[in-house]
Amino acid sequence: METLKKYALFVLAWVFVSTLAMTTNVRAEQASQMPPPPLKEYRIVRSISEEAQGCIACHAEQNRGIVADWASSRHAHANISCLDCHIAGPADPDISKEHLQYDKTPISVIVSPKDCSRCHPSEAAQYAKSKHANTLELIWKIDPWLNHGMNSDIERQTGCNHCHGSIVKVENGKFDSSTWPNVGVGRINPDGSKGSCSSCHTRHKFSLSEARKPEACGQCHLGPDHPQVEIFDESKHGAIYHAEGDNWNWNAAPGTWTPGVDYRTPTCSVCHMSAVNDVAATHDVTERLAWETQAPLTVRPSEFKPWPAQTDWRKERQKMEKVCLACHSQKWTKGHFTRFDAVVVNYNDNYFKPMKKLVDELYEKKLLDNSKNLDEKLEIDMYELWHHEGRRARFGAAMMAPDYAWWHGFYELKKKCMEIQEEVEKLIRAGKPATVFKVNGSGGDTTKPDFGK
Ligand code: HEC
Ligand code: HEC
Ligand code: HEC
Ligand code: HEC
Ligand code: HEC
Ligand code: HEC
Ligand code: HEC
Ligand code: HEC
Repeated sequence: METLKKYALFVLAWVFVSTLAMTTNVRAEQASQMPPPPLKEYRIVRSISEEAQGCIACHAEQNRGIVADWASSRHAHANISCLDCHIAGPADPDISKEHLQYDKTPISVIVSPKDCSRCHPSEAAQYAKSKHANTLELIWKIDPWLNHGMNSDIERQTGCNHCHGSIVKVENGKFDSSTWPNVGVGRINPDGSKGSCSSCHTRHKFSLSEARKPEACGQCHLGPDHPQVEIFDESKHGAIYHAEGDNWNWNAAPGTWTPGVDYRTPTCSVCHMSAVNDVAATHDVTERLAWETQAPLTVRPSEFKPWPAQTDWRKERQKMEKVCLACHSQKWTKGHFTRFDAVVVNYNDNYFKPMKKLVDELYEKKLLDNSKNLDEKLEIDMYELWHHEGRRARFGAAMMAPDYAWWHGFYELKKKCMEIQEEVEKLIRAGKPATVFKVNGSGGDTTKPDFGK
């Protein structure tokens, strides 16, 4: 009986919008330019306030894609409406003044992690301390493109900031288009909170299943310098995901998503974030890591000086191993990590350290100029050695992709070492400093932004 009642309510659920939409005073001129496809009826009589029904009604006309996404989300099913997320307080700097002409309820377009934290406090707290949320401050500590102005502002806005995030600037409800729109992982919001939850859960579905799939991470984790998604694709895990993933259960409630039952091989989320065995789910992706394999010289996360992690690598390694043990034996798992750790040592000792020593000697001899980085050929070579080839070798070995470990990794490292050695010898023989190039498209702002607390 109770279920029947709920079902009836549910069916009733999407009633009124089309009627409401007709009666609301919509700005119909815009909508009438294209022949509108027929509207689905959304029935929204449940406990949604009249104000909130107004948003849905009008926006079903204005941006039906948004309303359709929302309607199919868990939020809509739980009566979480547009207003619950977009509501703005009187002190919010990003209140949309323009929008007051459509509706008297003040709203803002940004829905920051702080806004989500009202209902999802633990995800927001874990996320806030992650490297994802804090990446802007971190990269400004170490990055030569930014600190030496080696690229331009527009190159940063359309490149770096899309993945890392922008510092959103808004004045009188008007957004600075160089900083907005943006959904990078470390976006700094006008309310001071850091990050953007829709980096992985895109609006307005905010779906769990989307974030559990590798494509969600692969938007940023790809390319010559961090090809994690390509690495995943070529691993056995990825091959099996592509062959049969369509039939796996992506919507299991958090904490109940079970290896062997809901899925047969792990995705990024399984190894790095989801709850598996007695390893708790986390929104802090630094957990479960035993190395900083993106760094020039691989170190433990707690020893990474620009952003020392508050973790003990032994415990984090154990967590990662427990994930594997859901599907593999102890020996299989230990064997994998023994080889991966050996790859880290091989990279550090046989490639990075000796090449860094050679290049450092040139700086001492003033044959290379260290006032700026990335404006001499050898500096670019040295950068690619660790940032491209060196990362690929380490990531390939960490995540079971032999083509990346060898052909895109160690093979390329060998070649790069020869090129560096040849260049070094030439400079020493000539006894003249290397050519310093005027880098095209440089001159980006080098003032360190204020990152708040
Ligand atoms: C009478 C129609 C109407 C109502 C009611 C209405 N809106 Fe809007 N809303 C609009 C229009 C028109 C725009 C501008 C669309 C555009 O720029 O293409 C807009 C824009 C927005 C934006 C984007 C603002 C930006 O700066 O990009 C958000 C978010 C939004 N509305 C949320 C809401 C919420 C929440 C409610 C309910 C409190 C609501 N709207 C009620 C018509 C309406
Ligand atoms: C769970 C929270 C949530 C709910 C519910 C929600 N929104 Fe949003 N909305 C967001 C987020 C997040 C963004 C992206 C802005 C950002 O990155 O901060 C957004 C962006 C928007 C935008 C501007 C983006 C664009 O593509 O133009 C509009 C318009 C909008 N929402 C309208 C609505 C309407 C209408 C509803 C109800 C049908 C709604 N929202 C419900 C969180 C929400
Ligand atoms: C007013 C409360 C509220 C706000 C604000 C809110 N949520 Fe939710 N959210 C919920 C509730 C309740 C559920 C659970 C719905 C259910 O289980 O049926 C949920 C579920 C989710 C889920 C799981 C969806 C799924 O497919 O199972 C995600 C992801 C999520 N929210 C993300 C967000 C993000 C990101 C924001 C901010 C942009 C946000 N939420 C803002 C209440 C809220
Ligand atoms: C396609 C998305 C994307 C773009 C574009 C991008 N990055 Fe990144 N960046 C990443 C990812 C993902 C990582 C993490 C690498 C890892 O840990 O494997 C990263 C790592 C870094 C790091 C290393 C951080 C650390 O913890 O050591 C720096 C510095 C950095 N990026 C700066 C930049 C700058 C500056 C730009 C633009 C000139 C840029 N990135 C462009 C996605 C991107
Ligand atoms: C780096 C990608 C990423 C970002 C950014 C992200 N999430 Fe998630 N989120 C995930 C993944 C993956 C899962 C699924 C974890 C699992 O399988 O248990 C998830 C699960 C969730 C769930 C369901 C968990 C539950 O116990 O109900 C909620 C709610 C949620 N996220 C909210 C948020 C909020 C709020 C933010 C911003 C503060 C956020 N997420 C940012 C990837 C992300
Ligand atoms: C919008 C872009 C974006 C998305 C989407 C994204 N990441 Fe990241 N990720 C980054 C950037 C940027 C960094 C580098 C942060 C830094 O070191 O400054 C990073 C770093 C990481 C790290 C390294 C953390 C550390 O401590 O070294 C892991 C692991 C990671 N991401 C996993 C994931 C997973 C898993 C997903 C999907 C569920 C995901 N990311 C989705 C941009 C993204
Ligand atoms: C089978 C489990 C597994 C899968 C699947 C997986 N990873 Fe990993 N990942 C690892 C392991 C193990 C490491 C190395 C951990 C360590 O530091 O000891 C790693 C390292 C990383 C790093 C480097 C972190 C750093 O800065 O040193 C990033 C970033 C990352 N993974 C992202 C991803 C993304 C994105 C995906 C999906 C496209 C993915 N991973 C899929 C297990 C996995
Ligand atoms: C959800 C189950 C599951 C989890 C979790 C899992 N794997 Fe696997 N893994 C598989 C399956 C299935 C295969 C394919 C076995 C085969 O080749 O017949 C596989 C294959 C492998 C292979 C063989 C790759 C090759 O090309 O020969 C390695 C190595 C591996 N996994 C390591 C790991 C490690 C390390 C972890 C944890 C970080 C892990 N796996 C987590 C299911 C899993």
